Amino acid sequence: MHKTFLTTGNGHSEIIIPGRFEDISLFSSKENTLLLVDENVLKAYRKELSGFNVIPISVDEKQKDISQVLTIFEEFLKLEVDRSWIIIGVGGGITTDITGFVASVYLRGLKFGFVSTTLLGQVDAAIGGKNGVNFKSYKNIIGNIRQPAFVICHTDSLKTLPASVFREGFAEIIKYAFIKKPHLFDYLEMNILAALKHDPDVLEYLIYESVMAKKEIVEADEMESGDRKLLNFGHTFAHAFEKLYGISHGSAVSAGMVLAAKLSVNLGFLPEDVISKLEKLLLKAGLPVKMQYDTDELIRTMRLDKKRKGKDIQFILLEDLGKAVIKSIPVSQLKSLLNDLR
Ligand SMILES: NC(=O)c1ccc[n+]([C@@H]2O[C@H](COP(=O)([O-])OP(=O)(O)OC[C@H]3O[C@@H](n4cnc5c(N)ncnc54)[C@H](O)[C@@H]3O)[C@@H](O)[C@H]2O)c1
Repeated sequence: MHKTFLTTGNGHSEIIIPGRFEDISLFSSKENTLLLVDENVLKAYRKELSGFNVIPISVDEKQKDISQVLTIFEEFLKLEVDRSWIIIGVGGGITTDITGFVASVYLRGLKFGFVSTTLLGQVDAAIGGKNGVNFKSYKNIIGNIRQPAFVICHTDSLKTLPASVFREGFAEIIKYAFIKKPHLFDYLEMNILAALKHDPDVLEYLIYESVMAKKEIVEADEMESGDRKLLNFGHTFAHAFEKLYGISHGSAVSAGMVLAAKLSVNLGFLPEDVISKLEKLLLKAGLPVKMQYDTDELIRTMRLDKKRKGKDIQFILLEDLGKAVIKSIPVSQLKSLLNDLR
């Protein structure tokens, strides 16, 4: 078992890989603990979660919104939640993003932690303290940065994940390889098929390496004024794909990374062979490498995302496999660039 700590000026998270539901007892007793549980996880693990106060969470991305936040606050009032309570999100990124947000603003901030039950959650969403909900389908546009007290990566629960959801996590693992950790690319090339078959040692290694990559970046730049932006490789496009075409986060990131790599080649930053390395690995993981899009619609949506700065849109581009850079591209230049890449 790996126990690691993510420490910033703002908080301190203990991260356990691999963990189980029983590990909740390391941090709280059942009486003053309130679990916010993904509705499907609750169905699959009702017995393991019995005896806790539970609020089920609706996990449609459309319901990751302020109306669900208000419903949870109503439940907090009914349960007379006070500052002695610990709030724990149990589920994937939708559940942990909502939980972190409600817990960090209710009574000006309650103690909270996560039991992460998706691969994407364990390698990314549950780590690093970004909490939030969507507004008018703009992704995570209302939120904050507060670290959970703990993250339990429940690797055994990945066995009940639908295969398509399990695969989505590989998009974020592959992202770490291409922005910062080229050794992960070599490891993935050799071991991704074993990982897809749920080999426990391979999965544990990939989750641990991904957590360490994210921890390194977040500890250096928690509030995203510099290098934390590198974690957004593929995400400027991905958030627009999610909003416009209703696809899931991992698939959107996958297609978004390929488009960002192509943009990097077109602007003369990146050798062309890196695109095919990226595409091959994503295809092996069963992830999409191309999206049909309307250029005007895509630009309009990206302009309203959080990554806009004045008349420019910020992109994370690649200079090499394992080396990402932040570049601003004027909106006026983007149209022809994106038309070329369609
Ligand atoms: N906060 C961050 O830094 C961050 C980073 C990346 C993504 N995100 C967010 O994460 C969300 C995506 O999260 P996700 O991909 O983890 O999935 P998710 O929360 O959308 O869940 C996906 C599906 O898997 C089901 N599920 C979850 N765990 C299960 C299990 N163990 N067994 C059976 N079914 C299970 C859920 O019910 C749901 O149907 C997006 O909203 C995205 O914006 C946040």
